[in-house]
Amino acid sequence: MAARYQIAGSSSAEISASVETGIRTGALAPGDALPAVRALAAALAVSPATVAKAYQELRQRGLVATAGRHGTRVRPRPPVATRRAALMPPPLPGARDLSAGQPDSRLLPPLGPHLALLAAEIGAPSGYAATPVLPALAAAARDRLAADGVPAEEITVTGGALDGIERLLAAHLRPGDAVAVEDPGWANLLDLIAALGLRPIGVPVDDEGPSEPGVRAALTAGARALVVTSRAQNPTGAAVSAERAGALRTLLAGRADLLLIEDDHAAELAGVPLHPLAGATPAWAFVRSVSKPYGPDLRLAVLTGDEATVARVAGRARVGAGWVSTVLQRLVLALWQDPATTDLVRRAGESYERRRDGLVAALAALGVAAHGRTGINVWVPVPDETLAVTALRDAGWSVAPGALHRIAAAPGVRITVSSLDEADLAPLAAAVARVVRPAPAGFTA
Ligand SMILES: Cc1ncc(COP(=O)(O)O)c(C=O)c1O
Repeated sequence: MAARYQIAGSSSAEISASVETGIRTGALAPGDALPAVRALAAALAVSPATVAKAYQELRQRGLVATAGRHGTRVRPRPPVATRRAALMPPPLPGARDLSAGQPDSRLLPPLGPHLALLAAEIGAPSGYAATPVLPALAAAARDRLAADGVPAEEITVTGGALDGIERLLAAHLRPGDAVAVEDPGWANLLDLIAALGLRPIGVPVDDEGPSEPGVRAALTAGARALVVTSRAQNPTGAAVSAERAGALRTLLAGRADLLLIEDDHAAELAGVPLHPLAGATPAWAFVRSVSKPYGPDLRLAVLTGDEATVARVAGRARVGAGWVSTVLQRLVLALWQDPATTDLVRRAGESYERRRDGLVAALAALGVAAHGRTGINVWVPVPDETLAVTALRDAGWSVAPGALHRIAAAPGVRITVSSLDEADLAPLAAAVARVVRPAPAGFTA
């Protein structure tokens, strides 16, 4: 517990630095409570205002969160590099890890042969003078997006979806601004929003995407940006349906005060058609990562949108990182153009679908409701997350607690199905059913 770590300092800067050190070294773990403002002020012989200022600074940087009477606590994944071991609960020997949200490495295209080809063809270095996006990659991306109904005149490339979203939010919003996000939603996005000093507004999500009343309420509450996951929503597997897309387009039409961001991270794997919102608002962006179909190692996403929005992202990148390595861009282009890779990605999508549908059906047969329309995760509502995660770990299955993904949504656990085999489904479903509907307490005959 937090009480063991001695926070030190006589100014707000020293106090916040001391808390940061505690988090970085693992002495303060995610979820640990910081002392109450008055108690710490008394212990350090400073004014409560000094401690309050330190906590505010830590809050704005996303290291801690304050939840009313529950006080101030270290956030689940604070944005400072922590020794990894401090964040991970000790794995039980032999437990299956279904908590990571990773694609199945056996279903990712092997990069070696393409790297070898690239090595043979790489030619002269392109250097600083070259355009930041390879024209051939931009043309291929445009074609792929247009085939899905996304108008993609302007294209830039970022270091993955989250990098693109960070650049979009940083270019359009200021600390304190509100961002509407799906609830439950992508844990990394919630962490990013906290790290940027923005405020998340949760939008309830069902199997067809973010709910229209939820988006409406977020707009009324002053959201300056809305992030929608097109397909394979993390953690629920939702995919925006044609009907939901129509309703949201009508609701958002002409909203000049809102930045609309779509995250189509499953793309070629999704197995259901895309129903884009692109262009519903004057400021919009559509981000498509290659992480899930082709591998997170590639760290690349294409980003399209209205001219001003794309220009802001590309312009800011130009005065910083510059561009995404053209070597990576070439590699992605080679993967896109390779028929064997296209076939492998298609088979991976079908395989995830079988595992997901298999688990949802096995759970339904035991009377357990679960969500998993698309993607690599299944979301199971549970009465108590801590009990569920612990009991499943004891049964040999490591799953992610919904707390990482939730703002106000009801509790649940996220089960990543990507590594499951057919033979796993029945025992896993039985273990989940036991935690969702535990046997009634009391004596048995
Ligand atoms: C909702 C969502 N978007 C995007 C991504 C991929 O992000 P990146 O391209 O930064 O690897 C993930 C990965 O888990 C995700 O869950």
